[in-house]
Amino acid sequence: MAQLWGGRFQSATDQDAYRFNASIYFDKRLVHEDIEGSLAHAEMLARTGIISEEDGKAIAEGLKSIIADVDAGKIEITDKYEDVHSFVEAVLTERIGDAGKRLHTGRSRNDQVALDMKLYTRKAVKAVDESLFHLQEALSDIIDNNLDTFMPGFTHLQKAQPVTLAHHMGAYFEMFIRDRSRLKDIYNRMDSCPLGSGALAGTTYPLDREFTAEKLGFKLGPTRNSMDSVSDRDYLIEFLSALSTIMMHLSRFSEEVIIWNSNEYRFVEIDDRFSTGSSIMPQKKNPDIAELVRGKTGRVYGALMSMLTTMKGIPLAYDKDMQEDKEVVFDAIDTVTDCLHLFTGMVSTMKFRNDVMEKSAKNGFTNATDAADYLVKKGVPFRDAHSIIGRLVLKCLEEGKAMDDLTMDEWKSESEVFEDDIYEAIALRTCVEKRLTFGAPGHESMAKNAAFYHEYLKKQSF
Ligand code: ARG
Repeated sequence: MAQLWGGRFQSATDQDAYRFNASIYFDKRLVHEDIEGSLAHAEMLARTGIISEEDGKAIAEGLKSIIADVDAGKIEITDKYEDVHSFVEAVLTERIGDAGKRLHTGRSRNDQVALDMKLYTRKAVKAVDESLFHLQEALSDIIDNNLDTFMPGFTHLQKAQPVTLAHHMGAYFEMFIRDRSRLKDIYNRMDSCPLGSGALAGTTYPLDREFTAEKLGFKLGPTRNSMDSVSDRDYLIEFLSALSTIMMHLSRFSEEVIIWNSNEYRFVEIDDRFSTGSSIMPQKKNPDIAELVRGKTGRVYGALMSMLTTMKGIPLAYDKDMQEDKEVVFDAIDTVTDCLHLFTGMVSTMKFRNDVMEKSAKNGFTNATDAADYLVKKGVPFRDAHSIIGRLVLKCLEEGKAMDDLTMDEWKSESEVFEDDIYEAIALRTCVEKRLTFGAPGHESMAKNAAFYHEYLKKQSF
């Protein structure tokens, strides 16, 4: 057991207590960030004369050799060390002697871990943003190619009005725009550096916190209150909340893919590379990737609830409860990253059956509103038009046909206002093409959005 403390203890830690307390099993993932923070801290200590130039150099070289060896697989981070901070300091001291013991001057593991976690999360926020960007690129392609692919739009999972595939995919593109802007907000708000806050009350050494904050790339400079700095995990809660919303969007999308891929709908066919079979039923080709994405949503929500609950009763400042932040956050990041990667692969290789979607849009009375609007344009009050069309729909349902199949006599039996142009007015193409309000599925309107998405994807987000 390599611990950074022990002077005031008379007996060694119980083995089970050691394991229970140790975080090395999961915080070893922070080794790059821990060393990045330590390099900045050591440089600042040397610049301010708190340690000698010589020690500063030895520390920097030692830290760089450790990270090189970790990356090369030459040293293993084992549970001989309590946490990643102990690992780095112990190995450093083994390599450079007393100078290694000076690294922790004016620092506590509390500000150290707060920094490590922020550095790690910052990268993760950007990486998730990048994954969303790739998904949006895939959606943008589908949108460009399907401005005139008709499909039914649904409410209550009942056919409602016709839309296009481009419009439907555009709805998800919009959700991912919001997700990405949330990530950016989080990034901007968390962009201050806790290093130099000490255990909770700062330090008596003349640390240059501006220097380390700048060195580590924190745009807002050092954090303002040392007690808050070591115990702030708000940014993790915000991040988990953003990740949960991303998963909620992916889960809704997955649900649609599952429905569309079903034998009953057949709107899409998921590529073989992203489907799985059954061990007993030879005919099966299952949408497991979509189902797993839908399923894993619960796991990410769980991480958010876990983090909120962990934090709710913690008195200022640092308490060990906070160590619980790591596993849930890491798991949520891994889960969302995997889900975005696989979902993008699935969506970009999925075949849309345009003919099936169009037929479905024709069959479900999705033009009933347009038929009512036809009467309104000829002076019939909307409420009366609604009831006239309702009766005609009922007639079609009884006779098993579409409104487009009604004869002129049948139209006229409900209202003399109907004329030959009704057929053109309720044709699927007309129903979609005429929807040209901003944000509607009509070709011209949606083409503007498609162009906007191209511009959007060209912009650097961070
Ligand atoms: N492993 C700890 C964590 O993740 C590091 C901070 C330890 N600080 C302490 N005072 N015990 O939170």
